[in-house]
Amino acid sequence: MPQKEQYIDQVINVIEMLPPLPDSILSLQMAVQEKDINFARITEIIKKDSALTADILNIANSALFARGTPVESPKTAIRNIGLSTITNFVTLQFSTRVLKERFSSIEGLQEYFQHATDVAETTQLLAQNTGKSRVEQEKLYTAGLLHDIGRLVLIMAVEPQIIQDLSLNDWYNIDHTAAIEEKEILGINHCIAGQHIAEKWHFSEDTQHIILNHHTPLQNGIDYDSSYVFMAHFLLMKEFTTQKLIQIFPHEVLEKMHFTEECIEKTRTELQR
Ligand SMILES: [Fe+2]
Ligand SMILES: [Fe+2]
Repeated sequence: MPQKEQYIDQVINVIEMLPPLPDSILSLQMAVQEKDINFARITEIIKKDSALTADILNIANSALFARGTPVESPKTAIRNIGLSTITNFVTLQFSTRVLKERFSSIEGLQEYFQHATDVAETTQLLAQNTGKSRVEQEKLYTAGLLHDIGRLVLIMAVEPQIIQDLSLNDWYNIDHTAAIEEKEILGINHCIAGQHIAEKWHFSEDTQHIILNHHTPLQNGIDYDSSYVFMAHFLLMKEFTTQKLIQIFPHEVLEKMHFTEECIEKTRTELQR
């Protein structure tokens, strides 16, 4: 078998070995899609799954959503946060748990999670500072958290020397040539692998699309959503300057995204706090 096909096979194998979404989360995802949400049925689904109940309460009482009074029932959590957001965060918790279990042998896994959280929070802050809606902010946060998920699969599937040569564990590398080089050598890159995992776990098509394009938002036409995740990497760099960002992104793109110089500076200042 030619080398590239072998690498693709190895990567697909690792993805196939990842567990599917549990039925309870799948049912919640299906319920979110329905026109008339049947809350009695949803309460029933949650009640039957104690791990899901615990996850929902964790989310509702996390720093991201807590409102002072502790939330003690899933029903209150759904009322406060909304079923769609709860379902998204429950799916994210499931994915984090699986990654921690399956990829525990990867050196630097802790740094991977730190990178994912930093990019997610920065992406969300950028979205907020450019006037995106809460729904859009959540979508971009989710994509930020998952954007490099494919790197873990590649690291697991391919021999260490190749991973080293491709700098696959250089988490902050957002250069578009990195994704192109991976594809040339392995026949697949972490963006494609990541999109497959997101699809397997039923993350939205928008999220999948951002994962796929996060290194190349300006390469095949302009992808505005992926530009947020791409830009978050720049804002997190020590050697960041607003001028550098302005050089990379065409003026009309920054204008359309409401990325004024003031907005970039404001976000950068907020990040340094
Ligand atoms: Fe990446
Ligand atoms: Fe990244």
